[in-house]
Amino acid sequence: MKNGKLQAAVLGLGEGFRHVKAYRENPDFELAVVCDPHPDPLPERLARRLVEYDLANTTRRYHDYKEIVNDPEIDVVSVVSPDFYHAEQCIALMEAGKDVLCEKPMTLDLDEAAAIAETVRRTGRNFMIAHPTRYTPAFILARKMIARGDIGELFMAETEYAHNYRLAGGVGNWRKDKRRDPLLGGGCHAVDFLRWAVDDLIDEAFGYGVKKGLLDWPVDFDSYFALYKFKNGVIGKVMCSTAVSRPYTMRSVFYGTKGTIICDNLSPEMQLSSVPFFDSKNDSTPFISIPVEVNNHNVEAQVKLMGDIILRGAENHADVVEGARTVAACAAAIEAAHTGKPVKVRNDF
Ligand SMILES: NC(=O)c1ccc[n+]([C@@H]2O[C@H](COP(=O)([O-])OP(=O)(O)OC[C@H]3O[C@@H](n4cnc5c(N)ncnc54)[C@H](O)[C@@H]3O)[C@@H](O)[C@H]2O)c1
Repeated sequence: MKNGKLQAAVLGLGEGFRHVKAYRENPDFELAVVCDPHPDPLPERLARRLVEYDLANTTRRYHDYKEIVNDPEIDVVSVVSPDFYHAEQCIALMEAGKDVLCEKPMTLDLDEAAAIAETVRRTGRNFMIAHPTRYTPAFILARKMIARGDIGELFMAETEYAHNYRLAGGVGNWRKDKRRDPLLGGGCHAVDFLRWAVDDLIDEAFGYGVKKGLLDWPVDFDSYFALYKFKNGVIGKVMCSTAVSRPYTMRSVFYGTKGTIICDNLSPEMQLSSVPFFDSKNDSTPFISIPVEVNNHNVEAQVKLMGDIILRGAENHADVVEGARTVAACAAAIEAAHTGKPVKVRNDF
């Protein structure tokens, strides 16, 4: 703490600029450090943003995350580096006494997920995983409606992640890597939303994969259907494709015994059908539209929750166990798609 504010650092300056903006706007924090190992000259986008946010004059700039580890002034770090580095960086930062807000996916590896969880338990640090669907207004409302029984008993749920990666390799094309399976790297958004909305543990996963779009990418599949059986009996389906030709979206449908919800992350309205709306003349239950705010990358809400957790003891609904269970659910469906056999999903982290 300095000047009555938590001292924040942002590690990785692509998506990291959303975190920069959120810390800048939040009165609990002072953005003290930004860190990115990219050597000068910087890529045009990064250089432009450093100027746009006046970072050269207002924050310290590091090139190695170990400089943050060794900076006693830093309280909180957003880890927004390519996925492969999350585990090493999060663990070292927490060992050094920092709290961490880590971008999704928490990691690409189950053993690393367990190691991060063990570090959180041992060090007692605050750790939050930045799964943005948990802060998307339509998805928050859908989850609330399911929980209060607006559609009766939920029995079937489908979510999706459709994002063509052809031009989204990232700085240095880091996404174009065999270790970054699309269902874990990007599809974790939809898997996490499915888990969060159904609000129960997944027991078993199955999956089918196909590759027809990113033919020169070193991954076995660019598109998936993942199927999940929850312990409470709900069945779930996740469509994930990094190769389809259509706009980016996460359309999701929830089916209950008394109604259905259709929502996505980019529409200003969602649809609800419910038994009370039954139209006997037409023998059908029409959908009504509910207006919702569109806020697809609500990093402001994530940073606000981080401040509330650290300073005011708020509940952390996106803790390390949640992050690890989403990694495990993705990994199980990927394994099933390769072996053709259902896979039990690990939940004990
Ligand atoms: N929440 C979301 O919706 C969302 C969206 C995009 C990306 N992400 C996640 O954010 C992370 C970064 O993705 P991105 O889109 O910003 O990628 P990017 O390629 O746009 O930017 C990554 C930045 O990290 C830097 N970098 C490279 N190696 C690093 C290291 N070892 N330590 C720190 N920084 C390093 C690069 O120089 C680059 O500036 C990934 O984990 C990704 O999955 C989340």
